Amino acid sequence: METLKKLRIYAKDNFIPILQEQTEDVLIKTLKVVNPKNVLEIGTAIGYSGSIIVQNSNAHLTTIELDKNRYEFAKTTFKNFNISSNVTQILGDANEIIVNLQEKFDFIFLDGPKGQYLKQLPILYNLLNENGVLFADNIYYHGWVNNNEYPKHKHRTAILRLRKFIEESKNIFKDCQFLNDGDGIMIAKK
Ligand SMILES: C[S@@+](CC[C@H](N)C(=O)[O-])C[C@H]1O[C@@H](n2cnc3c(N)ncnc32)[C@H](O)[C@@H]1O
Repeated sequence: METLKKLRIYAKDNFIPILQEQTEDVLIKTLKVVNPKNVLEIGTAIGYSGSIIVQNSNAHLTTIELDKNRYEFAKTTFKNFNISSNVTQILGDANEIIVNLQEKFDFIFLDGPKGQYLKQLPILYNLLNENGVLFADNIYYHGWVNNNEYPKHKHRTAILRLRKFIEESKNIFKDCQFLNDGDGIMIAKK
C-alpha cells in the first residue's frame, strides 16, 4: 500500500526534491479556499504534490515533467492512489508545452526549474482564469533571494531572475501574498 509518508521518505532517500511539509500545509489550505476545478502543475517529479492536489480538491490536474523516469514513477504513484483518471501527465519541457496549452486553469502550482519562473510568468498568467491563483514554491531559494545581497555564487542567474519574478508578479497580479514557509511561497491572484 502506497502512502504519502512512504513517498516522502523515498524522495528524501533518492535526493528527489519535493515540496516541504510546511509548503504542503499551505498548499492544502489554499486549495480549500480556492476550490479549483482545473489545476496545472509545472514539475511533477514522482507525483507527490500532484497527489496532494488531487486528494485535497475536486480538480483535474495537468502536470508536466521533463525527466522520463520521474514521469513514469509518477504514473505509478497516481495509479496506486487510484487517481489516474483525475490526472493528465505530460512528458517534456514545460517551456515548450505551456505555450501550446489550449485550456485555462484556476490554479497553477509552479515548482519546476527556478531559473525559468520569470520566463514562464507571462505565459502562466495568460493561462489563468480571472481570479485564478498562481502558487509558486521556492521563491526565496534557500534565503538567497530575500537577503538583499548581490549573489556571488553559481546560482546568481536564478536568484536575480527570481527577484525579478517577484517584482513582475507584484505588477501584474491584483493580489500577491508572500510567505516565509518552507523555501518561500508566493500566492498570487489574477
Ligand atoms: C522541485 S521538483 C518538483 C517536485 C514536485 N512538485 C513535488 O513537490 O512533489 C522539480 C521538477 O521539475 C522537473 N523539471 C526540470 N526542468 C523542467 C522543465 N524544463 N520542464 C518540466 N519539468 C522540469 C525536474 O525534473 C523535477 O522533477
